[in-house]
Amino acid sequence: MKVVFITGVSTGIGYATLKRLTETGYFVIGSVRNASDALRLSNEFGSKVHILEFDVTDQIKTHTQIESIYPILQKNGLACLINNAGIAVPGPLEYLSEQDFTYQMDVNVLAVRRVTNMLLPYLGSDTQYNPGKIIFISSVSGLFNAPFNGSYCISKHALESMIDVYRRELYRFGIQVSAIEPGPIKTEIWRKNLGQLDKFLDTPYGDILSSADKMIENSDKSALPVKVITDIIDKILVAGSPKTRYLVHKKPFLFKLMSAYLPDKFVDKMVHKTLSKKDNYRPV
Ligand SMILES: NC(=O)c1ccc[n+]([C@@H]2O[C@H](COP(=O)([O-])OP(=O)(O)OC[C@H]3O[C@@H](n4cnc5c(N)ncnc54)[C@H](OP(=O)(O)O)[C@@H]3O)[C@@H](O)[C@H]2O)c1
Repeated sequence: MKVVFITGVSTGIGYATLKRLTETGYFVIGSVRNASDALRLSNEFGSKVHILEFDVTDQIKTHTQIESIYPILQKNGLACLINNAGIAVPGPLEYLSEQDFTYQMDVNVLAVRRVTNMLLPYLGSDTQYNPGKIIFISSVSGLFNAPFNGSYCISKHALESMIDVYRRELYRFGIQVSAIEPGPIKTEIWRKNLGQLDKFLDTPYGDILSSADKMIENSDKSALPVKVITDIIDKILVAGSPKTRYLVHKKPFLFKLMSAYLPDKFVDKMVHKTLSKKDNYRPV
């Protein structure tokens, strides 16, 4: 039995990946945050899945839930871990509360290391198990820093670092590590932010943020379907030597140019100009 572990399977990329992998014969261990999602997925996928219930910021529950599936992993090893669960906490860095900023880092960075470390022996850092793969769902926000989405960008930049370090440390075990770096994908993650920026409207950034909801709605229309991500995950799982990074963007050349090659001051001006237009900007 080939086992894959995915965090955050209630919706979006995680749900679509769980569905795809059960269709292609994998046994999927997926995590959700609440009992109703666990029940819904168990009913939908039956014996093809094992659903765990924990919030990744709850360290005790994370440990007890993951430990509960060790017998499955001791028998089968782990073919792949997909670190997917994530959130985006928007707001200007100056006014974002300490609590919100810390929560963003906990979910998108600290918890990823906690979960990964608990599963690494079964991915092959214990050499009695065959080497598996790790896929991190990063973001173009790990490559480019967008204003008012700062805590998310910082978290994904930190994640990009973590991915490189793990890849180089795990090389000796043959564990292959890949990052998927998507631009906008049609999921609920950004819609969850509708109205979230209202609390900053009476700050000096209020004029720009007043149209944030419209920007999110507009850019949602141009997002790519989740299938582009599940297709890449399929590819990684069967590849003998998967790529270390997969950039997923409608205009990859333009994105690379802007994020890596154009001078900072030119890009600063461009971002400022786009923000002032208040219609088609999306902070990823
Ligand atoms: N959609 C995009 O445009 C896009 C672009 C680049 C990267 N990404 C990345 O893709 C990944 C998946 O996001 P998505 O777009 O599929 O969004 P989504 O539909 O909102 O899914 C996020 C998943 O993470 C779970 N999650 C959030 N906070 C959690 C916590 N504290 N503990 C445990 N689980 C938690 C959510 O559970 P609940 O349902 O309980 O909230 C949900 O299952 C994220 O890492 C995101 O950064 C997305």
